Amino acid sequence: TVYYGSLINPTTLTTYEATANCLIAVNAQGNIDWIVHDVKDSSVQETLLQKGLLDTDVAIVELREGQFIMPGFVDTHTHAPQVPNLGTGYQSELLDWLEKFTFPLESKFQDVGFAKEVYPSIVKKFIASGTTTCCYYGTLHLESNKVLADIVHSSGQRALIGKCNMDRHCPPYYIESSPNSSISNTQAFISYVRSLPPGPSNEPLIYPVLTPRFAISCSNELLSSLKSLAHSDTQLHIQTHIAENLKEVQFTKELYPDVEHYAGVYDSYGLLRTNTILAHAVWLEEKEIDLVKQRKAGISHCPTSNFNLRSGVAPIGKYLDRGLKVGLGTDASGGFSPSMLVTMRNASIASTVVALQNNPINTPADGRKFINRQLPLATLLYLATKGGAEVCVLDKQIGSLEPGKSFDALIVDVHTSDSSTATKNSNPALWSIPDTSPISSLSPQPVLEGMLEKFIFCGDDRNISAVYVQGKLIGGTSYYT
Ligand code: GUN
Ligand code: FE
Repeated sequence: TVYYGSLINPTTLTTYEATANCLIAVNAQGNIDWIVHDVKDSSVQETLLQKGLLDTDVAIVELREGQFIMPGFVDTHTHAPQVPNLGTGYQSELLDWLEKFTFPLESKFQDVGFAKEVYPSIVKKFIASGTTTCCYYGTLHLESNKVLADIVHSSGQRALIGKCNMDRHCPPYYIESSPNSSISNTQAFISYVRSLPPGPSNEPLIYPVLTPRFAISCSNELLSSLKSLAHSDTQLHIQTHIAENLKEVQFTKELYPDVEHYAGVYDSYGLLRTNTILAHAVWLEEKEIDLVKQRKAGISHCPTSNFNLRSGVAPIGKYLDRGLKVGLGTDASGGFSPSMLVTMRNASIASTVVALQNNPINTPADGRKFINRQLPLATLLYLATKGGAEVCVLDKQIGSLEPGKSFDALIVDVHTSDSSTATKNSNPALWSIPDTSPISSLSPQPVLEGMLEKFIFCGDDRNISAVYVQGKLIGGTSYYT
């Protein structure tokens, strides 16, 4: 298949390419063979011929005006079982919220029937939001997690899925009975996920991920066993929460009086490494930042959740200046939306809050690019795609559209019909206002950049017409028509 249209592609933390009339060739394995920029309509045939293709050999998907292709979103942290609670419990802070709202809901997945009932629409929501790779926390139940893995697998989404480990400081109705059973169920889940059939390129689309809930809810024995498991299997991803809330940090330090800091707890159990995803990281101390950097672990920034649960505002600009890997996470249901677009907006606002609190006038002149600054559009795009891929250590394969990488992509449609012609399913925030054009007094904003900005700040599911993973159409508005 060859796609023909505008392309928006992240390149670095501060740059992206935005080019019209691109040809993107995707092979039968779902990988990108080649991309040619700036091909006039009249030269499409000629370019195909130069590439050794007859137009009868290929299906050409031509984008309409108002559409562009971009890489799919990588959601580096979310909780599938918590989605029924979206928008619930935001008058509480983390530890109370877990007790009052989260554990009661997660415990319902003891019933496999409940998992089968709710997980299909949950996975659909993430796909419709444009998430092509998703890092899911499951619950502690082996069978329901297998159901989640089956549903994600049959949906065609790329994912990391983890069976949650938790054997202390949890309510009696939602706790694992022993470190041994926690570990044997974890091993069973890992084997199950690895036995699922591969994707179109003959490589797996779904990976298991070791998922100790957080230090508070794992006994020393459990963490020791997880250490052995992680050590014996260095390919295995690890995900957990870190320094989200001050009371949580304090309690963690009380539980580990001999360890220097929160990150040190995970490090002492061998859980900080290059394929570790650390969610939140709002309150990391300087030494912890250095340690995370040294271990090459990645941060999942979850700003919507951090606002909702009043956890704090993570200093993402500082982390970027220090060279940490950073991606974004929706963190349902601490976050109220499964959409990475909403997360990007809140990442923008969070960075602005940091800037206003610390340095409302000046930006540092010492070469630091991000600290105390509102994150630029290019950075938001990067974090939601390429940054997330780096955090998942899948950046050789996904995160941007380049020859050799997988075609994990979105066709975005910001076509601005006006309110008189709009269908009931179009997005009112993007209806055009008759007889006006965007006002930019000095330099007119390039059209594609304007489209990207509108999409990030005003777009939603209705503006995502196609979602592809490994070349296969798995969602978007066109998938259902
Ligand atoms: N820390 C431990 N468990 C959770 C959870 O489910 N959500 C969030 N946001 N933080 C956590
Ligand atoms: Fe979380």
